[in-house]
Amino acid sequence: MSETLVHVASGKVRELFTIDDDRLLLVASDRISTFDVVLPTAIPDKGRVLTGLSAFWFARTQRARANHLVGLRPDGRSMECRRLEMLPLECVVRGYLAGSGWKDYLREGAVCGYSLPDGLRESDQLPEPIFTPATKAHVGHDENIDAERAAALVGVERYREVERASLDLYRFASEHAAERGILIADTKFEFGLDAAGQLVLGDEAFTPDSSRFWPADEYEPGRPQPSFDKQYVRDYCESLGWDKSPPGPDLPGDVVEGTRARYVEAFERLTGTSFEDYLANPEVVLR
Ligand SMILES: Nc1ncnc2c1ncn2[C@@H]1O[C@H](COP(=O)(O)OP(=O)(O)OP(=O)(O)O)[C@@H](O)[C@H]1O
Ligand SMILES: [Mg+2]
Repeated sequence: MSETLVHVASGKVRELFTIDDDRLLLVASDRISTFDVVLPTAIPDKGRVLTGLSAFWFARTQRARANHLVGLRPDGRSMECRRLEMLPLECVVRGYLAGSGWKDYLREGAVCGYSLPDGLRESDQLPEPIFTPATKAHVGHDENIDAERAAALVGVERYREVERASLDLYRFASEHAAERGILIADTKFEFGLDAAGQLVLGDEAFTPDSSRFWPADEYEPGRPQPSFDKQYVRDYCESLGWDKSPPGPDLPGDVVEGTRARYVEAFERLTGTSFEDYLANPEVVLR
């Protein structure tokens, strides 16, 4: 039977197609964004790394939390998923003080309503991971919101459920990653409801695009940390004095190669599988 895919949306990185009433195809492109701008140069295989990593984590967490993965296509970048009714929340977990969390802490000594001890430095590990939801912005940056506003968006019971699920997922993956030399400073999930009203993990999981990965051997609080995957791109963009508004600069070959190598290294370290084996048969990450 031939298949008719209907294109329904393009994100910054992924293309969404409907397969039928129950299933979507999520196709991760090789586009890369930095400072929230998609660059004109692609990173070969980046989309395959994102899809393979998500599938790896979905397979390992499915007993604890149902997710939308149905299957991987042989191209390694396309994932068949159950179609969900997505919740209007970006479910962020932070284990370290970075990014907008660090800015909030400097201003008010708190992040999303969690007051934190005095004297924390940039990139310090938090006493325990915190759940800091944000609204999904249709344009511009997502906005951090406190628990009360988040609960008003999805209901108190559902809020508690996504909070618990997010923290459990983060604890599991951050322990696994730390053993392999990668710190997951923070991460974002999107959940949805299936036809039966069950909470299901959707979107992508613990990829470099949804998470801040730091190399553990270079970790040193008191300053921003290098990014495991995007640092070459960031350093190159900074060296140009680009003002971070679109259009972004083209990337030279050595920056593309270095960045591709880092994505592949993140994949191989986290999954314990060679990327070549993944390309030969994407299902290796599901075992
Ligand atoms: N199982 C699912 N059912 C329905 N929609 C889903 C499912 N999984 C993910 N989505 C949606 O698919 C889209 C994924 O595309 P993509 O990540 O490229 O775009 P985005 O998140 O809107 O933008 P960004 O570029 O900031 O990531 C998101 O809108 C996400 O909410
Ligand atoms: Mg997304």
